[in-house]
Amino acid sequence: MMKQPAELLQLMTLEEKIGQLLQLAAPFFQGADGQITGPMAEMGITEETVRNTGSVLGLTGAEDVINVQKQHLATNRLGIPLLIMADIVHGYKTIFPVPLAIGCSWDLELAEQSAEIAAKEAAAAGVHVTFAPMVDLVRDPRWGRVMESTGEDPYLNSEFARAFVRGFQGKDLVNDVSRVAACVKHFAAYGAAEGGRDYNTVDLSERQLREFYLPSYKAALDEGCEMVMTAFNTVDGIPATGNKWLMRDLLRGEWSFDGVMISDWGAVKELIPHGVAANEAEAAIKAIRAGVDIEMMTTCYSDHLQKLVESKEIDEALIDEAVLRILELKQKLGLFEQPYRGANAQLEQELVSSEAHRNASRELALKSCVLLKNDSVLPLNREQKIALIGPFAANGDILGPWSWLGSKDEAVQLAAGIGSKIDASLLSVTEGCGIETATEEQLKAAIAAASEADVLVLALGEHSDMSGEAGSRSNIQLPQVQLELISKLKQLGKPMVAVLFNGRPLDLHGVIDQADAVLEAWFPGTEGGAAIAELLFGESEPTGRLTMSFPYSVGQIPVYYNRFNTGRPQGAPDAQVRYVSQYLDIPNEPLLPFGYGLGYTTFKYSEAVMAADTMSASEPLQVNLTVTNTGTRAGEDIVQLYVRDMAGDVVRPLQELKAFKKVMLQPGESKEISFTLEEQQLRYYHADLTFASDPGEFELYIGPNSRDVSALKFKLSK
Ligand code: GLC
Repeated sequence: MMKQPAELLQLMTLEEKIGQLLQLAAPFFQGADGQITGPMAEMGITEETVRNTGSVLGLTGAEDVINVQKQHLATNRLGIPLLIMADIVHGYKTIFPVPLAIGCSWDLELAEQSAEIAAKEAAAAGVHVTFAPMVDLVRDPRWGRVMESTGEDPYLNSEFARAFVRGFQGKDLVNDVSRVAACVKHFAAYGAAEGGRDYNTVDLSERQLREFYLPSYKAALDEGCEMVMTAFNTVDGIPATGNKWLMRDLLRGEWSFDGVMISDWGAVKELIPHGVAANEAEAAIKAIRAGVDIEMMTTCYSDHLQKLVESKEIDEALIDEAVLRILELKQKLGLFEQPYRGANAQLEQELVSSEAHRNASRELALKSCVLLKNDSVLPLNREQKIALIGPFAANGDILGPWSWLGSKDEAVQLAAGIGSKIDASLLSVTEGCGIETATEEQLKAAIAAASEADVLVLALGEHSDMSGEAGSRSNIQLPQVQLELISKLKQLGKPMVAVLFNGRPLDLHGVIDQADAVLEAWFPGTEGGAAIAELLFGESEPTGRLTMSFPYSVGQIPVYYNRFNTGRPQGAPDAQVRYVSQYLDIPNEPLLPFGYGLGYTTFKYSEAVMAADTMSASEPLQVNLTVTNTGTRAGEDIVQLYVRDMAGDVVRPLQELKAFKKVMLQPGESKEISFTLEEQQLRYYHADLTFASDPGEFELYIGPNSRDVSALKFKLSK
């Protein structure tokens, strides 16, 4: 009869308990016959330690997982199975667009489906837990990991967090072995790193933290997310991984989270360079007291906790509670009865990169691309002679930085995508330049090809390692050689379309002013080239809308739509010319605003009408408007509703997204769109951090993006 976790805990020695708190990477388990490999010896990890280890990082493949688990069960005294964890962020083998692109789809169902497919492929490959979703709110495109986030809005990030958790975990994680446990990360506010420099200091007021950065983690946990990963950064002067207020008081106390918390890679030991621990023993004390259950890839726990307990510096009860949470997660995943859970080599073979999964990836890529400009050159027609030019013309590096199991060779390159639409005689493909280097030959070939063409399609962007973890850039323009290529090709006077493959909002000067059309493709995943070609030829319409502002220049950062007004707002009726909040050399507004995106048709919005201009907790506000497709092609728009609290207990954002609705319309067709605004959507953190709404004046904005909106006034009564 299977022992309950609490009973099992009673049988465990202190060394065995501490072993459950350690996570090692796959290579430590994959030496032939479990031999100690180099890295293990260097880390001073003994075979005994490995035998007692609780979980593995980055082990995938049904056969490998089964072999490692089988070996482990044979050597672990109590037969406690390993937790198999891995980074399945936006796809396992079938890679979906990066999360920032998924965010721009504003499509929660497709987002959930992408996580479900990722889970099914990963579960068949033996994975139990994925280190996703990453729900960090982002405002600084210099930070390389903005590509992993869904953007700058807390409401939208929360909705996506919920959708991803639903997709990964399903409705019955205990019995549905085709799903995996989710691990929301990085708790907390990793996206607020100063200067956009990865791992850098984060220092926010508690109100900023609660108002903007915490909602998406809370949403993931409210959706049942099983695990939390700590962030590398400080929060109010204390690294998250050793931050008792953040972890014990807020996460486990106020939010009642009783699941497993894992450190990020090495983050326990990094308490030493952070300067809050003098040595590994102190780091272990800080982290275990903060409630961190699993130490990822360092050995402060396994090297020091035993002595700390024996010397009574640490109460063994702290270790017991951590071990119990880990055992309970293993029980919830059914690992004691089914230690191999969903691992199934045949099913894995059938599922990974299946046609159905690739179709789903293409569908999401279609929705994630954002048309930023189109001066009547798109869609292309199939009679045009096309010169496809650029370092991404025939490049499989379109999967993004967190696609370690995806195959770049299997990715549909843009040349293949376009080539499948037109006769080969109508398409030339030249590189024009590399991503960061260029030769005269490349340029000459490109100019020769361009001279023969009716239209130029430039495939430009960042190498996938120019974003992602540790991928911060101080200059967010395209590399200079690519800007020079655009400028030289512009001189030919041909219609030019720029397709961008990048992991962050860019400073598009030199691109959007030169090209006649710009399609933001981000890193679109396995089916990227196919999806982009469908959009370029108008088989599908671009419907993506930006969820992160594109700054005018790097000097404008941070720039985000839900900003405060300041006491000297630029453009106010009585504003001075000089003494207002402004730059002398650039505008305050971003180059492209949150919510922005074009399609191939046009829409007209009627005046929005409110059933009443006063609302209360018992009487929500009803708002209606009519949207008409005034173009000649069918199209979909995303109607966005924003709110402004005109006078709060603290300053309030100029706009806050509160709702959105997609509307698909045939040419000439009109539809009525209705929104209901509830009182609880107007609540915020007051000066004393109470969370409530205030009676008073509000404005409501409706439009196709955060900039082009019409305003209505309403009141919230008591
Ligand atoms: C990395 C990342 C984290 C990832 C973990 C395991 O450092 O910060 O997002 O899940 O290590 O690979």
